Amino acid sequence: MPLIIKDEYPEKLFRDDGKRLDGRDKDELRPIKMEVGVLENADGSAYLEWGNNKIYAAVYGPREVHPHHLAKPDRGILRVFYRMATFSVFERKRPAPGRREKEISMVISDCLKPVLFLELYPGTAFEVYINVLDADGGTRCACITVAALALADAGVPMRSLVTAVAVGKIDGELITDLSGIEDKAGEADLPCAITWFNEELSLLQFDGETDLEEFSKCLGLAKNAFSKIYEIQLDALKKKYIEIQEEYSRGEKK
Ligand code: CDP
Repeated sequence: MPLIIKDEYPEKLFRDDGKRLDGRDKDELRPIKMEVGVLENADGSAYLEWGNNKIYAAVYGPREVHPHHLAKPDRGILRVFYRMATFSVFERKRPAPGRREKEISMVISDCLKPVLFLELYPGTAFEVYINVLDADGGTRCACITVAALALADAGVPMRSLVTAVAVGKIDGELITDLSGIEDKAGEADLPCAITWFNEELSLLQFDGETDLEEFSKCLGLAKNAFSKIYEIQLDALKKKYIEIQEEYSRGEKK
């Protein structure tokens, strides 16, 4: 799959055979792989490959809040640090977190908070560090998805997982899971996320133009995609516990 090369946008985003440039159908997701428990030193962690995106998430907490003045006496806080590596995009990214990274960190935090029982952890913080090593469109959605998994891996009590995907419009057609080039050269991009315990959207952003009918069809595409991604999240969590169970039954763990 091609990564974005800046200023080299193709004239058409569909091939003559009707497929997208990376060979996908309109409603097809990129290949997704997830794994939990990948970092030794974090309380919980997860790794995700979603198309060309490669992302690690590490969770710590509940732990003391630094700086102390950020602590809330009546509840815990969730701090999210979304960062893109300097080498994660075609043009070297400046290492200092810019406005985009601060905004995306906030968006991810707002999106995950509804599933946490922060009221049970006064004065403490849950911290989620997310590092994007390779970026190719839809990183905020990929980060939400992998961060939810890392929180679950850390054993943080949660109402449910959270799953995110971007849908949108390119060359007049509605599509699921925009790649970097589709995000840049297309007409609309709608990142959204679902909290499964109440099946409500905890993220809905919109960049571009669609009419209302297209907008609602986009949400339909997202709904289908959410279920497929959720299955992969659940499989990643189950795999870890099946492996632990097998180690116990072989006597390798006591
Ligand atoms: O990644 P996401 O779609 O959530 O956010 P975006 O701000 O719409 O960025 C779209 C894509 O642009 C990213 O996924 C990267 O592939 C690319 N990008 C880049 O090439 N250089 C940057 N400094 C930021 C983003």
